[in-house]
Amino acid sequence: MKSTTLLSLLQDRRIHSGEALARALGVSRTAVWKQIRRAQAEGVEIATIRGQGYQLVSNLDLLERDTVLEALDVELQRDLDLVVLGDVDSTNAEVGRRLKAGQATLPVVIADSQARGRGRRGRHWASPRGENLYLSVGLTVRGGFSALDGMSLVLGVAVSRALVALGANGIGLKWPNDLFSDNRKFGGILVEIQGELQDGEVQVIAGIGINVHMTQAEGVDQPWASLATLWPDIPWTRNQLAASVVTQLMAVVTEFEQHGIAAFIEEWQCQDIFFGKELMAREGDLLGRGCGIDQAGNYQLMTDQGLIPVRAGDISLRVRS
Ligand code: BTN
Repeated sequence: MKSTTLLSLLQDRRIHSGEALARALGVSRTAVWKQIRRAQAEGVEIATIRGQGYQLVSNLDLLERDTVLEALDVELQRDLDLVVLGDVDSTNAEVGRRLKAGQATLPVVIADSQARGRGRRGRHWASPRGENLYLSVGLTVRGGFSALDGMSLVLGVAVSRALVALGANGIGLKWPNDLFSDNRKFGGILVEIQGELQDGEVQVIAGIGINVHMTQAEGVDQPWASLATLWPDIPWTRNQLAASVVTQLMAVVTEFEQHGIAAFIEEWQCQDIFFGKELMAREGDLLGRGCGIDQAGNYQLMTDQGLIPVRAGDISLRVRS
């Protein structure tokens, strides 16, 4: 059964009387009024229509666990331990806690906002409430640490497939796994490892952040975009997006476990935004032309000394200006 909240009732943008809302929520009219005031204080625009009731003015894209679940295959509905949270420090941190506590074998955490969203290289990830997708999955990966670089790359392919399935096109991948379009970053993936390598298996937390509706962000130091601005004709909803990302992610992880990175190289290369560009790595010590990835997931630069692989996580790669 779907959980009923004040905002889910108002989402149809009709006028609802305080009495009807109170009845549907099983609370008093005073409690409804308090909830309205709280939502307004958080920035949701709700109009009070004299003698009639309340009407939602803001465009809301509510996250609802049941709606995400309904959009998943029955096997995934059964296997995943999906939670949708309001506020959290970081969905990656929350998955880590759940794995540690042995609460779930396949935890998936989605949140409406993150107080301490984590990006790669210790950066902050802008995570305002209600606007974007913040989603993390806890996975057990076979093949030890050496499999991880490849794994991190194929997650980018999974997110790209998820967006294409919803109608997007022209998606670029920036090594190792940033999502780009129109020369602007709209999504990123943070892969973290938890615990020790045991019996050739390692616990991996894959966190995915996608800007969906965001139009303003403080402290982001590179050109960025959101799905709604890049593909304005697609009616983006975070529930549908989350289901599509989880579906593709699980499919890609299975494919990766069976065939390794080889099965993805061609697809990854087709979306490589660095290919053929003059690049620099190792703080400018290494210069060369972008030549795509190798079988270990390294990025290859054609330099004066020949083809040199750059390892994920070691060095950042930039276009030479
Ligand atoms: C990057 O720097 O490009 C990676 C960004 C990853 C952000 C996501 S949002 C969901 C998950 N939780 C986090 O704290 N970070 C990742």
